[in-house]
Amino acid sequence: MKEIVKDKIYIKTFGCQMNNYDSDRLLESLSDTHKKVINPEEADIIVLNTCHIREKAAEKIYSEVGKIKLLKKNNDKLKLIITGCVAQAEGKAMIKRQPIIDAVVGPQMYHKFPGILKKKNSKRVIKLDFEHDKKFNELRGKRIIANVSSFVTIQEGCDKFCSFCVVPFTRGSEISRKEEDIIKEVSMLVSLGCKEVILLGQNVNAYHGISSKNQEINLASLIISLENIKGLERISYTTSHPKDMNIDLINLHGISQKLNPYLHLPVQSGSNKILKSMNRKYTSEQYLKIIENLRRKNPNIAISSDFIVGFPGETKNDFAQTIKLVKEVEFAQAYSFKYSRRPGTKSSRMDNKEITLNEKNERLLELQELLNKHQKKFNNNFINKEVRVLIKGKGKKLNQYRGTTKWMQVVNFESKKTVNSFENVKITKSSNNSLLGEV
Ligand code: 5AD
Ligand code: SF4
Repeated sequence: MKEIVKDKIYIKTFGCQMNNYDSDRLLESLSDTHKKVINPEEADIIVLNTCHIREKAAEKIYSEVGKIKLLKKNNDKLKLIITGCVAQAEGKAMIKRQPIIDAVVGPQMYHKFPGILKKKNSKRVIKLDFEHDKKFNELRGKRIIANVSSFVTIQEGCDKFCSFCVVPFTRGSEISRKEEDIIKEVSMLVSLGCKEVILLGQNVNAYHGISSKNQEINLASLIISLENIKGLERISYTTSHPKDMNIDLINLHGISQKLNPYLHLPVQSGSNKILKSMNRKYTSEQYLKIIENLRRKNPNIAISSDFIVGFPGETKNDFAQTIKLVKEVEFAQAYSFKYSRRPGTKSSRMDNKEITLNEKNERLLELQELLNKHQKKFNNNFINKEVRVLIKGKGKKLNQYRGTTKWMQVVNFESKKTVNSFENVKITKSSNNSLLGEV
């Protein structure tokens, strides 16, 4: 039998978990004709799957493109394709500016990839429509890449239009996958050895899919259905919006056997004036109430968040409100960013004054010191306790493994077990970002 010679494809992924998920689905959908390589030098096709959420995204991509120019000189067969959110936001300008780009493909058009790759002529391609349904149906057919902890996109896009955010423009409007398709995908993953799924969506708790009985269901109902899958042990979901933190979901955190006691619930700011200007649709008091209700249902829940400092118009007093909220909640973990003006967003057109970069840096440092202190406090509570760890990979040292607790903390420890299994580990030491333990 004649062996099929597969073209070699290299994908570099920037940004969020959804981009990683999309890159893997792309590779799977092309697996009959293309082989993944880990060096761009070996590739026939290079894909840059890009992120546009914060500053310097496009510049980063242009510098990558510059490097690829040299490779193209030595290999005139090489194709360069830009995908992801920068492609969606600036694709037309990019392809004009950089003649070596062969195609720009937006996040909702990845099902067009096989066709684009088959094209023999040198015509350059722009695919920037929003064909959510087709993408979901055509791209998710098979799962070959299954990790012990795997991502599954259940919802995509966003209708919230927070004034600082590009996502509604790059990912399009909110759409949820059918319950049946998600159950099928998770079951397939579990049959391949997956034990934990992390349900993904830009606004995951706004999930409103259709059940097999043709009824609209929310995220809590979907999670309850997924709990029935034998062999699946842990379920998480990210990223949630406080406005969609409904009672069913809060209650589920009190009763579910499989839902991780962890919730990433970005608050962004503690100042009601800034939250309003951000168009977040809740007040700091409402956010605190949600946290209180969650903790009443599950006192062990770890709360994580995102913050933006230096939003236009943020005064010292507004920032003090953020610090106050952080002190009240004591987050187990958090991400914090300096505000960056994104083209096309409402906040980029605001007249309100922005503080200087120096001031932004100072506020960020103060906030991060406090967040780190709380994270360390949360982790210190685990010292001398035994926790169940899902082993996800090898550690840096010989016999060392790395896994996570159900609170999503990383634990390093020595073990004779192998990746993909659970181990009971006694925590001996903690730092901000990880725990050390022994079996
Ligand atoms: N500037 C700074 N941070 C931002 N984020 C989103 N847009 C911006 C922006 N323009 C942050 C928010 C969001 C996280 C994914 O990225 O905190 O929750
Ligand atoms: Fe962006 Fe706000 Fe939508 Fe999150 S909820 S993706 S921050 S617009």
